[in-house]
Amino acid sequence: MSHNYKHPIPPGIAENALINAGQYTEMYQQSVEQPDIFWGQQGKILDWITPYQTVKNTSFVPGDIRIRWYEGGTLNLAANCIDRHLATHPDKIAILWEGDDASQSQQLTYRQLHEQVCRAANMLTALNVKKGDVVAIYMPMVPEAAIAMLACARIGAVHTVIFGGFSPDAVAGRITDCAAKIVITADEGLRAGRPIPLKKNVDEALKNPTVTSAEKVIVFRRTGTPGEWQDGRDLWWHELMASAGTEHTPVPVNAEDPLFILYTSGSTGKPKGVLHTTGGYLVYAATTFKYVFDYHPEDIYWCTADVGWITGHSYLVYGPLACGATTLIFEGVPNWPTPARMAQVVDKHQVSILYTAPTAIRALMAEGDSAIAGTRRDSLRILGSVGEPINPEAWEWYYRTIGNSHCPIVDTWWQTETGGLMITPLPGATELKAGSATRPFFGVQPALLDNDGITLEGACEGNLVITDSWPGQARTLFGDHARFEQTYFSAFRNCYFSGDGARRDADGDYWITGRVDDVLNVSGHRLGTAEIESALVSHPKIAEAAVVGIPHAIKGQAIYAYVTLNAGEEPTPELYTEVRHWVRKEIGPIATPDVLHWAEMLPKTRSGKIMRRILRKIAAGETSGLGDTSTLADPGVVERLLEEQQTIN
Ligand code: WTA
Repeated sequence: MSHNYKHPIPPGIAENALINAGQYTEMYQQSVEQPDIFWGQQGKILDWITPYQTVKNTSFVPGDIRIRWYEGGTLNLAANCIDRHLATHPDKIAILWEGDDASQSQQLTYRQLHEQVCRAANMLTALNVKKGDVVAIYMPMVPEAAIAMLACARIGAVHTVIFGGFSPDAVAGRITDCAAKIVITADEGLRAGRPIPLKKNVDEALKNPTVTSAEKVIVFRRTGTPGEWQDGRDLWWHELMASAGTEHTPVPVNAEDPLFILYTSGSTGKPKGVLHTTGGYLVYAATTFKYVFDYHPEDIYWCTADVGWITGHSYLVYGPLACGATTLIFEGVPNWPTPARMAQVVDKHQVSILYTAPTAIRALMAEGDSAIAGTRRDSLRILGSVGEPINPEAWEWYYRTIGNSHCPIVDTWWQTETGGLMITPLPGATELKAGSATRPFFGVQPALLDNDGITLEGACEGNLVITDSWPGQARTLFGDHARFEQTYFSAFRNCYFSGDGARRDADGDYWITGRVDDVLNVSGHRLGTAEIESALVSHPKIAEAAVVGIPHAIKGQAIYAYVTLNAGEEPTPELYTEVRHWVRKEIGPIATPDVLHWAEMLPKTRSGKIMRRILRKIAAGETSGLGDTSTLADPGVVERLLEEQQTIN
C-alpha cells in the first residue's frame, strides 16, 4: 500500500463529529486571520472569575519576544477542572484507576475528586505552601499524582512533576533549579510487578548538598514497604489528608501566573525548566482535547502517558478534566503480565478513546495476535499517537488490529514547549495518511524554512517553525529567559523554531521527519546528547564522549555512545557494564546507552569540533557516503572507527 494512500474517514465518524471538513477550513481561516476573535470565543471554554480584557499580546520579533494571552482575566484551574462540573455531573467518574495488578482498580467521581483536592489544598496550606511556591511531585501513576497537581493549582502554587524513572541525581538537579519547597512522593511505585524505590531516591536526592530548598517530604503509601524515615521532615500523605478539612475556596490567579515547570532536554546543557502559565495553557489543553479527540460526554478516555511528561499534564489530567471527561490512569505497562494487557484494559473499562505512543504500538505489533488475544476492543472510537514519528507499518497495525479498522488515528505532533497538540488530524474532518500528522490545529501557523531561513513553498522539506503564537505556548525557561530566546527564537527570525524537521506533501499535509538538532527520541522520551555526554565524562576514567542516535525497530532510536578513555585506561567488559550503570545512576534507566564504542579518538575538524554527522553514519553502519572528510584533522580516525563499529546485541 502506498504511503500516500488516504484512509477515508471511517463510516459514522464525520456525522457525529464536532468538526467536519468544511467547518475545519472555515474555523482555521478565522483562527489565523482574526486570532483575537477566534481565541476570544474559545476562551469561553473556561469559567473565569474576572473576564479577560486582551486576548492576545504576543510578538516573535527579536529583542521583543512577548507571549501573553487572556490578560486581565483571573481564574482557578482546579475550579475549572472540578468544581464547575459538580453542578452538572457530580457523580460522573472523573478518574478511573487501573492498577499494575489488574485486581486493583479504583474510581473517583467528580465529587470525590473535589473532596480529595480540597483536603490536599488544605494540607499544603497547613505546611505553609503559598501562591507562587514550587512543589516537586515525584509520584507513580496513581490518582494522588493528579490530586497533588490539582491541589497546587487550587492554591496557586507551581508544580514541577518529575518522571518516576529519573535517578536521585536528576531529581536533585531539578529540585535545586526551581527551589522546590516541598516534595510529594510515594514509598514505592509499582510497574510490571517490580517496585520502584521513589522515597529512597528522594532520600538520596536530598542528601545532595546542593539541595537546600526542600523542607518537607510528603509520602503517599502505595506498597507499604518500610524504609528510612526522617522525623520532622517526612510526613505521611494519609495522615495529613485525614486531618485536613474538606472545604476549600480556590485561590484566584491571573491568566499569566505560572502553573507549572516541566524539565525537558535540549540540544545543549542541562535540562530546561519549561514554564507554562495558567489561562492560555488551560484554554489550549481543553480546546485541543475536545476537538482533536472529538470528545463526547459518554466517552471513556485513556492516555497511557506518564504524568511526568507533558502528555501526562495536558492529556491525562488537565485537558480531560477541564472538559468534564472520565480519564483513565493506568499504573502498569501495556504488555504486562501479557501482551494483551492494553487491549484487556480497553475492554474492561470500555475505553472509547485511546491515546498512546508508537513505541508501545511497535512493541505490541512484535507480539502479533497475542497482543489482542481474547479481546474485542469494540468500545474504541478514536485512536491517538504521540511522541515520535509513527512508521506506516505500525500505523496500519494500530488501525487494523487494535482499532478493528473503524477508528480514525490522530497522529498528534507537539512538544513540551507547545503545551498542546499542534499538527494533527481531526477525526471528522481529515482524511488520514499512515505516518502523517496532516494539518495544523486552529491558530497554528507552521512553515518550513531552509537552513538560511528562506520560507519554502508547496511540496518541500525543511525546518519546522511556527510563525505566530498560540495560547498554549511556553512563556519562558524558568530562571533563564535569555536561554529561552536563544533556544527557540534565534535560529530563524520572527518565528518559533521547534527543532524538528518536516516534509509537506502536494496535498499540504505535514510529515514530521524528526529532530534536526542534537536531541534523541528514545521510546518517545526526549534526551539531549549533551546531557548523556556530560554524564559519561563525569566518570573518572572517561576523557571524552560523543553520543548519537541510531534507528531502532521498537524504541525508534537507540543510544550509541563513543567513549574515549583516559590515557592508560583499558576497555574491559567490566568497565563497559560500569559505564552503562554510571549513566543510569546519573540520569535514569531511559538514558542508559545501548552501545558503547571504545574509541581511541573522535573525528574532529582542525578547529577541534566533533564531526557528529560522520559519527551518526558510522553508528548506523552506513559505510559509504560519509561525505566530505577532507576537513578532518586526522582522516585515519574514521577508518579505525568504521572497523570497530558496534551493533546492539
Ligand atoms: C517528537 C511530546 C513525530 C518531536 C509531546 C518533538 C513527534 C518531540 C510527534 C517533543 C509526532 C512528538 N510525530 N514526532 N506525532 N510527537 N514528536 O517535548 O521530535 O517530550 O520535537 O513532547 O517529540 O517531545 P516532548
